[in-house]
Amino acid sequence: MPRTLNVLPPEKGVCLITLQRPEALNALSTELLGELAQALETAEREPEVRVVVLTGSRKAFAAGADLKEMAERDLIGTLEDPRVRHWQRIAGFSKPLIAAVNGFALGGGCELAMHADILIAGRDARFGQPEIDLGIIPGAGGTQRLLRAVGKSQAMQMVLTGEAIDARQAQRVGLVSEITQPELTVERALEIGRLIAAKAPLAVRLAKEVLLKAQDVDLASGLNIERQAFVMLAGTADRNEGLRAFQEKRPPRFVGR
Ligand code: CAA
Repeated sequence: MPRTLNVLPPEKGVCLITLQRPEALNALSTELLGELAQALETAEREPEVRVVVLTGSRKAFAAGADLKEMAERDLIGTLEDPRVRHWQRIAGFSKPLIAAVNGFALGGGCELAMHADILIAGRDARFGQPEIDLGIIPGAGGTQRLLRAVGKSQAMQMVLTGEAIDARQAQRVGLVSEITQPELTVERALEIGRLIAAKAPLAVRLAKEVLLKAQDVDLASGLNIERQAFVMLAGTADRNEGLRAFQEKRPPRFVGR
């Protein structure tokens, strides 16, 4: 049983994971990151989980790396930090991951939110990379993912000043896709999760993979990757079912093959 997370069994294909370190505003201790990586790997293996929603508390999604732990790590400790591996495991989750963010998403908390494929934020959410105030820089992908998500000027401003942006600004710059009342953030994320969970699993999986590739490769290579995935799906039972259901004017029954 994880000590720093609450993992609910999937409902209608959607599993809800809640970060639970209220005493530290869900600061990302090594234990928490390891438990989260483990929970996602379990979700990866379970066919009944189609989508994962990740959330924190109303006050904080996560207030970043655990600064008390960080204070005890020197250069060698940082070089050999087991957290790096946990972050890689989290990034490797192949099913859709939706972040439902309320309150603070700072430092590693903002970086964790950016590991999600879709971000839904409560009106009071605040996204920031305050590492510069500690004499460091973001260390869990913040410089790379933030720039890709919001563009150079906004990313530079956030990383160099350390100042957070609110949910409205986060939506304006494309970090967040929807804003809700804080009490509805998780429900809205679950609703989007259920919508995705009802789609053809192979198409969902390849759509995520191909969209993520778009951030890393040039247009010609990306179009080639998209084409290969598109052709691959033409051989699936779910594609035939989708086309047949359209003609027969009924909802499709996808089986994941
Ligand atoms: N690590 C460890 N403990 C933390 C924490 C963190 N990142 N953030 C908050 N806490 C703890 C506080 O120490 C406090 O515990 P105590 O009562 O035992 O002292 C408790 O959570 C509540 O926090 P505050 O009293 O500070 O709450 P607040 O409402 O006054 O302020 C806040 C909230 C603005 C988020 C403030 O807590 C804060 O600035 N936290 C640090 C944010 C930060 O700098 N994050 C970046 C970390 S670096 C990083 O993440 C590197 C990376 O890229 C991997």
